[in-house]
Parts: sequence; structure tokens; C-alpha cells
Amino acid sequence: MKQDLLSFKDWDKTQLEQLLTLAKTIKANPKAYRKALDGLSIVALFEKPSLRTRVSFDIGIHKLGGHMVYLDSQSNKLAGREDVKDMGANLACWADAIVARVFAHSTLEELAESAKVPVINALCDMYHPCQAVADYLTISEHYPDLSKVKVAYIGDGNNVTHSLMLVGVALGCEVIVITPAGYEVDAGIVELTQQRAALYGGKLTISTDMDAAIGAQVLYTDTWISMGDNTPLAEIKEVFDAYKIDEALMARTGADYVLHCQPAHRDLEISGSLIDGDKSLLMQQAENRMHGQNAILVQLLAANFKPAN
Ligand code: CP
Ligand code: NVA
Repeated sequence: MKQDLLSFKDWDKTQLEQLLTLAKTIKANPKAYRKALDGLSIVALFEKPSLRTRVSFDIGIHKLGGHMVYLDSQSNKLAGREDVKDMGANLACWADAIVARVFAHSTLEELAESAKVPVINALCDMYHPCQAVADYLTISEHYPDLSKVKVAYIGDGNNVTHSLMLVGVALGCEVIVITPAGYEVDAGIVELTQQRAALYGGKLTISTDMDAAIGAQVLYTDTWISMGDNTPLAEIKEVFDAYKIDEALMARTGADYVLHCQPAHRDLEISGSLIDGDKSLLMQQAENRMHGQNAILVQLLAANFKPAN
């Protein structure tokens, strides 16, 4: 039975902890995994631009002994030339997995249904699961006991936030989500995250008040305008200026570190000096994208691989 990674909604605490452990193992000894994807080919299908996801998958797959084919659909919807389900079925004739960055989550569901190989979500309108693995890998490198960690996400309620919530509470973290009114996270995902928190010991707080971040060790933000959103910056700035992360907020909350999935916009959602300063974990997160994704690939495609000594 193939396993897809569309959202992590159906991954429990143990599965997520094992994935983080595998990511740490591969990161610590990458040479032992040089043949994990030996002879496997993976298609990366991107409807939107990418720096980190595209390059970290390509280089990561190479380091595992596999091969990636990048399909540039950046200026076209996937279904422009043929139906998504025909595309999925065709790609599965040659590829061992499909990594896809798409506008609509339903496109991933169609790909997963029609392709007989695993489909991995490289970002859609609702989720960014690969990002969340890198985020908690990074956080756990500073705080090994995630059940003692409070992460405050501040800014636009979006795909990155949803994955941060769903994965974080399952790992035992307290996740605090602070957005301006009108830019909240999806209500259905809040409900699901609450259920997962009750099951696995984490906690979710939703607020519009920046004071809710006081006491968090880690602050996290993302762009105020996601790909595909054409709202003018001036309009967004009016609403979001009070939700910027800067040195004053770090001091007020007592936070140790700041995270950002990037691309970051200096002096909009985060101050430039904070990005470049010693509280920034942005580059560690970026590096961990590859280690986290490599763990996902090994888990989905080569679970029985025996690492070399
Ligand atoms: N964080 C992230 O997914 O970056 P890219 O859009 O550059 O892939
Ligand atoms: N929320 C952002 C994340 C980019 C990695 C977007 O969807 O554009």
C-alpha cells in the first residue's frame, strides 16, 4: 500500500516523532543513506515558484542516490493541457514518487488518487507539511523536550500556520496563533488541531492579541501576502503593521529565537536586523528542509533500507 503525504492530518504522535528521529539520523550520517533511493526517480511538479523546496528536494534526492525530474508549470495550472488525473496516472508509469506544489489542495488529492506512487505535498493553499518537519526539527535541536516548548506564530493565518499547528500539538508543543481579525486560520483545522492536542498532550491558543505571545520561547512568522494573493501591499500593511516581529517584541515576549519559513520580507513581517541577528534560526530551518524531506522520502519510498555503516 503506497503512503502519500498530503497534510500530516492522519499522522499520529509516534509517526511524527519517528520521522523527526529519522531526519536527525540522516542529518548526522548522510553517507549511510547514499543508496537509500538507489535507482528511484521522482517527479517534482511545481505550479508556483520556489527556491528552498525545489532545490532542497533536488539536492536531497541526489544525496540519497535518486534522481529528480523538475516539471516547470509555474505559469500554467497543471490541468491546462490534460486532466490532472491523467497526468498523475502517466507520471506514475515512470516515476517512483511525485512531489507537487499546487494552488488547490484538491489537485493533490486528484494526483494521489490517480497515481499509484506516493504523492508528497510541497505546499498548497492549505498546508506546507515539509516546512513543518523542518520547523520542528530546528526547534527540537534547541529544545529536545518539545512538550516544554511554546511556539507563537504571528501574522497571516495560512498554509504554513495550519501545518505548524497540526504537527506541533501532536508533538506536545503549545502552539499560539496570533493573527489580525479577518486573517484567521481555517476553523476546521482549528477544530482538528484541538482534537489532536487533547489526544497527544499539546495545546492550541488562538488570539488576535500580541500579548498572547508573552512567554513563548520561539516566535514564528511568514509573509503577509502568500503566492497567488494579489491584495495590494499598502492595504495589507495597514492591517498587519501591528503584527510585525522585531527586537522590541522579542524583548517584550522574552522569546529566545525567531523562525520564518522564507521568503522573508525585511522590515515588513520581520525586522531585517532580526533576520541577520543571533536569535534568527532562519538558515538552520532552511538547511533542515533537506534533512526533513530526506526523512520523508526514506519513510515513504525506502522504509526497509538498511543504512550503511
Ligand atoms: N519555505 C519555502 O517553501 O520556500 P520556497 O517557496 O522558496 O520553496
Ligand atoms: N504562505 C506562503 C509560504 C511560502 C513558503 C505562501 O503560500 O506563499
